[in-house]
Amino acid sequence: MNINTNNPPADNFEKMIIKDIVLQNFKAAEVMEKYGIDFCCKGKRPLNEAIAEKNINGEKFLKELEKSFQKNSGEEERFETWDLHFLSQYIVNNHHAYIKEKVPVIIAHLEKINNVHGAKYNFLQNVLAEFEALASELLNHMAKEERILFPIIKYLVDSKKFNERPRTEGYGAIKHPIMKMESEHDTAGRAAEKIRTLTNNYKLPADACTTFRVTYQELEEFEKDLHKHVHLENNILFPKSILLEEELLTRKK
Ligand SMILES: [Fe+2]
Repeated sequence: MNINTNNPPADNFEKMIIKDIVLQNFKAAEVMEKYGIDFCCKGKRPLNEAIAEKNINGEKFLKELEKSFQKNSGEEERFETWDLHFLSQYIVNNHHAYIKEKVPVIIAHLEKINNVHGAKYNFLQNVLAEFEALASELLNHMAKEERILFPIIKYLVDSKKFNERPRTEGYGAIKHPIMKMESEHDTAGRAAEKIRTLTNNYKLPADACTTFRVTYQELEEFEKDLHKHVHLENNILFPKSILLEEELLTRKK
């Protein structure tokens, strides 16, 4: 579906697929985040389904969504036009680097608040365990993307550049590693959601100290970044790589 970003069809949003809305305008992602609507892992369903499930004020939400289209600078839409190798490197240098840098910091903060406040707020122990599991899965997952999937994407981009038919013997078809990565994204999305539930949507206790506040801010930012990251892969990089491979394999020499 094609949306004119200067004149969004607000009444059509509800019937649209969530990821298509975000693909048209990444500012819409901020509004989705605010209302807890998952646009990356659960982005392939109509918006009205998510609105009903979340039990939110649909009218208010749709108004904000419409506003986000008016604010759109067009900057984010460029992801869609980027060369796929460039996009994968952007993901590595921006999102993967962010995770690698933030994981030890957040774990240290969680350990600290757990030591000081764990007796009173014993759910913090579960938050720490959940975050450690999420972090270790993500580090593993990113290594697979950086060592296997993204080099295949570069190979496909180069094949197109040099007008060559790619050989797929090493990995079958690119959709296989992609399916695996998507299922790992689902697992990560569920873990992030669990942390959000455990912390009651990052609601701080009245007596929360500064480290407590900082840790919740960091966790929330981590989740937001993960959503953007998974959106770029699930909704742009992966489907476009599958299409590129198909195009290269079906064209005549
Ligand atoms: Fe990924």
